[in-house]
This record gives sequence, structure tokens and C-alpha cells, in this order.
Amino acid sequence: MAVSYKELGLVNTKELFKKAHAGHYAIPAFNFNNMEQMQAIIQACVEVSSPVILQVSSGARKYANATLLRYMAQGACAYAKELGKEIPIVLHLDHGDSFELCKSCIDSGFSSVMIDGSALPFEENIALAKKVVEYAHAHDVTVEGELGVLAGIEDEVSHETSNYTRPEEVEEFVKATGVDSLAISIGTSHGAYKFKAAQCTRNEEGILVPPPLRFDILEEVEKRIPGFPIVLHGSSSVPQEYVKIINENGGKLDDSVGIPEDQLRQASKLGVDKINIDSDGRLAMTAAVRRVFATKPAEFDPRKYLGPARDELKKLYMHKCVDVLGSAGQA
Ligand code: G3H
Ligand code: 13P
Ligand code: ZN
Repeated sequence: MAVSYKELGLVNTKELFKKAHAGHYAIPAFNFNNMEQMQAIIQACVEVSSPVILQVSSGARKYANATLLRYMAQGACAYAKELGKEIPIVLHLDHGDSFELCKSCIDSGFSSVMIDGSALPFEENIALAKKVVEYAHAHDVTVEGELGVLAGIEDEVSHETSNYTRPEEVEEFVKATGVDSLAISIGTSHGAYKFKAAQCTRNEEGILVPPPLRFDILEEVEKRIPGFPIVLHGSSSVPQEYVKIINENGGKLDDSVGIPEDQLRQASKLGVDKINIDSDGRLAMTAAVRRVFATKPAEFDPRKYLGPARDELKKLYMHKCVDVLGSAGQA
């Protein structure tokens, strides 16, 4: 039986993006697959009073089960209230690749969906997004489209190189499809290896520094669709302290590079209203779990390693809201 997100206590992105744009901050979109991630997201966002987008990929939906997810999202709203603050919570499908998947998410309580036709020819991307928008808007669900291709891996789809968004296409895309927000490609990419070492320089500590984001493209997009909500995917910063902990405790992450946080701060001031972060959370959890395994080899109670992982995640998300996206205090 279909369920509306409104019955679950969720909101769509419309009002959130309006306020974020006016206030020059971005709404965090944190991916989750399990209870500890969800708890960390809600605890962090309640504590700093930030609105939040709980983001679910199709892989996450398969992993966690669609029915359970619906109750987890409903639980997230009740949990926030219990912690003392009714923050706005969106349940969003990340990288939806078909009308059927978007429809199924809408029917099972999602308040927002992304239809990612970015790898399709322009006209096909428009046709697919338009079809999703028609169904979504009939249910008061908001839709994110994408123009331009990000490098990296997302679910089964992998792109070797990125294609920057062509600003001359955005007006027609937004008008023809009716989408509520637009993901663009300005140099971010998915995963913990965003750039090849050869594309980077090394700073005095030997850390790889990536080429800067293409703010000129963002500005050109802003000029053509002023005030329209813009989304940045692939926005993890790959904190080197986590990479170090992982590598010192049996892991092997070589030359992993992320997007410097000051550039994300700048993007959120320049009209980006949603910033997607997944990999940094994975690194935080992995670092915490590896540290427990290395220092307490006799430990076998999952709460003893998932608990520290959850605490580290919460710290990371609070930092993102306060110091990077500027969403703290905006709930
Ligand atoms: O952009 C992709 C997200 O990081 C989700 O990753 O498809 O492995 O769940 P996933
Ligand atoms: P990261 O891999 O940089 O965290 O990006 C996540 C993302 O874009 C989810 O859609
Ligand atoms: Zn993404």
C-alpha cells in the first residue's frame, strides 16, 4: 500500500532550498544504509539545529530493505523530537536511474527523488526527468535532475572522466523538465579517490592538493537560472586524519584526495543549496572500527566498535554543518 511522506513526518526540499539560497548556506545530504549512520546524522543535526536530507542510493535501498527504510525515516523524525528538536528531515533517493525506481520510492514514503539521466543524450535526459517530475509533483514530492557527468563510481555506474556542465543547457533543461533542483558538474567526483596524483600538486606536508573547482561554471549557471537550487555531488573532503588512522591500523588507502572544505564553503555561499557527502562518513566509521580492532583485539561485541564509529560520524557531521555548509542554527 502506498504511503505519503507527510504521514511519516518528513518534508520535501522546496522551503529548505528557498531559505538556504537566501541565507547563503547549503543543506547537508548525508547518505545512510544502517541504524548507526541514521542515529549519527540525527544526533548531529539536532545538536547543531540543522535541517537535513537523509539520502538513500538504490544500493542502500537494496541493502536496508525498502519497508525497513520507511520505518527508519519515520523513526528518525520521532527520534529528533525525542532528542528535543523537530528539525526538517527529507528522505531523498540518490541517483535514481529509472522512472520505476523513482515511482517506487515516492510510493514508499520518499519526499524527494533524484533522477540521474546525466549520462543520457540531452533530449533523453529531459524526457526521463519530465516523466518523473509529472508523477512526483502529483504527490508533492520534489525532484533533482543532473546535467554534466561526474567522474567516479556510484552504484554499478562508473565514469572514468567527468564532463563539466554546459551552462548554455541549464535554462532549457530546467524549463522543459520542471525539476526543483539541478546537480551540476564543476570538478567534484564520487568516492575517496577524486583525482589522480598527476592532476594534483603536493603541499609542504606532502599532501595532494587537487585542482580548484570551476567556480566560473557555477557563476555562469547562476546567471542563467538565478536563485534556482543547485546541488553538488561528490563533495567529500577525504580528511587525511582518517586516512592516516585507517592506514596505521591495517588499512590501505593510497593517494586518496577530496575537495578542500574551504571550496565547499565558498560554493555554498555562491548559490549551491545541497551538498552530498557519503565517502567522508565511510572513512570516519572505518577509522573508528579499525582503531578498536587494532587496540582491543579481544573485543567482539558489535556495539563496542559500531558505537565509537557512530560517535566519530556524529562529530564529522556536526563539523560539516557548522564549519563547511553553514546549515547549523537553520532548522
Ligand atoms: O553517489 C553515490 C553515493 O556515494 C552512494 O553510494 O551507491 O555505494 O550506496 P552507493
Ligand atoms: P562523495 O563520494 O564525495 O561522498 O559523494 C557522495 C555523493 O555524491 C552521493 O550522491
Ligand atoms: Zn552523487
